[in-house]
Amino acid sequence: MFLQTFYSLLLLSLLFRCTGDESLPEVTDNDQAPMYRREREALYSAIQGFVGDSWNGSGLYPDPCGWSPIQGVSCDIYNDLWSNPGLIGKFPETIGNLTRLKSLVVLENGFNGALPASICNLKSLKKMVFAGNSFAGTIPNCFKELKELLILDLSRNSFSGTVPSSFGDLVSLLKLDLSNNLLEGNLPQEIGFLKNLTLLDLRNNKLSGGLSNNIEKIQSLTELVLSNNPMSEEDMMGGIKWEKMGSLVILDLSKMGLRGEFPIGLTKLKRLRFLGLNNNNLTGLVPSEKLEALPYLGALYINGNNLTGELRFSRKFYEKMGRRFKASKNPNLCQPLEKTISNYSHNKHLLPLGVKPCTKG
Ligand SMILES: *[C@@H]1O[C@H](CO)[C@@H](O)[C@H](O)[C@H]1NC(C)=O
Ligand SMILES: *[C@@H]1O[C@H](CO)[C@@H](O)[C@H](O)[C@H]1NC(C)=O
Ligand SMILES: *[C@@H]1O[C@H](CO)[C@@H](O)[C@H](O)[C@H]1NC(C)=O
Ligand SMILES: *[C@@H]1O[C@H](CO)[C@@H](O)[C@H](O)[C@H]1NC(C)=O
Ligand SMILES: *[C@@H]1O[C@H](CO)[C@@H](O)[C@H](O)[C@H]1NC(C)=O
Ligand SMILES: *[C@@H]1O[C@H](CO)[C@@H](O)[C@H](O)[C@H]1NC(C)=O
Repeated sequence: MFLQTFYSLLLLSLLFRCTGDESLPEVTDNDQAPMYRREREALYSAIQGFVGDSWNGSGLYPDPCGWSPIQGVSCDIYNDLWSNPGLIGKFPETIGNLTRLKSLVVLENGFNGALPASICNLKSLKKMVFAGNSFAGTIPNCFKELKELLILDLSRNSFSGTVPSSFGDLVSLLKLDLSNNLLEGNLPQEIGFLKNLTLLDLRNNKLSGGLSNNIEKIQSLTELVLSNNPMSEEDMMGGIKWEKMGSLVILDLSKMGLRGEFPIGLTKLKRLRFLGLNNNNLTGLVPSEKLEALPYLGALYINGNNLTGELRFSRKFYEKMGRRFKASKNPNLCQPLEKTISNYSHNKHLLPLGVKPCTKG
């Protein structure tokens, strides 16, 4: 089987802005609902960039935006036209002519090569999704004009190089997903300018150099996923004031080579539902009581560290968490049996797997 058949969907969704501006350029001359000629030309030329010059627009009757109730305002082209496993190759430069495009979703096709810098001309864009293609090369550092962008998803490609500092200019951004690429180097300080960001997903890259302390400035974050990046930094966990990030619901810091003591600031994040700290190099005691006091915590992974001392969670906690609590592979961590569970042989299944009983004395 060809891999391409899996990449069956390209969704190019074009939403033009309703400006209500009377001084807009000329409209087409026929009796169909008009679209501005220059934009139609730009659109057709971009489409030809995808599907080849033999395409002449005849399949889009009467025209791509013809059915819109508001003239020249809204235009959606869905996947039928694009269900083309042959959509591999370079992404057309001419896309940058669609300056009033609101939404660009190019999902799970076989596009490869670099992303053209002309995408940064799309100043009206609110959503840009290139996830699940084979784009490679660096992400162009040209994002400073895209002030209206709300969602940027470049995940599941082969982008390399660093995270562009011009991402810091995307001041409206709500979601930034760069996961599953080959990005490396430091996270730019400018990331802290994204005051409205709710999701930052950088998992499965090669980012290093520790977490920028500016991350704590993004207090709107509800999901922060950084797992599987060699971020290791001696003082990283102590350096960040996690307690400032009180909106966090999901925090995944697993497989990052983190060192130092269990970051106590994390126990102040009252909305936390998921906390992943597994497969790091954390040391010291587990703040069991404080973690147990987090009202919504439903998954806690601290396995694969070098934590020490006793786990002091109640039986109730273990009942609540089930197998969504993991503490194994901490050779110096132990579980006080009598305290938690009076009838051990009967209730063995409630205890976390792979944690040895504490020896008395
Ligand atoms: C589209 O942009 C290219 C450069 O990216 C330019 O050469 C071309 O003239 C533009 N076409 C239209 C229809 O604006
Ligand atoms: C456009 O393409 C279609 C199908 O490829 C063809 O039948 C039609 O004649 C073409 N129209 C023009 C105006 O070239
Ligand atoms: C950030 O969000 C607030 C509240 O929703 C909004 O008023 C503000 O305009 C947003 N800032 C930017 C730059 O979009
Ligand atoms: C943890 O740190 C120790 C001591 O520096 C080192 O030997 C070990 O390889 C580290 N383990 C991991 C998983 O990073
Ligand atoms: C784990 O921590 C202990 C001290 O608590 C230290 O002696 C040991 O070397 C550490 N092991 C690793 C693999 O880092
Ligand atoms: C522990 O549970 C088992 C099975 O229910 C029961 O037979 C046993 O009497 C219990 N032991 C104590 C000390 O409660």
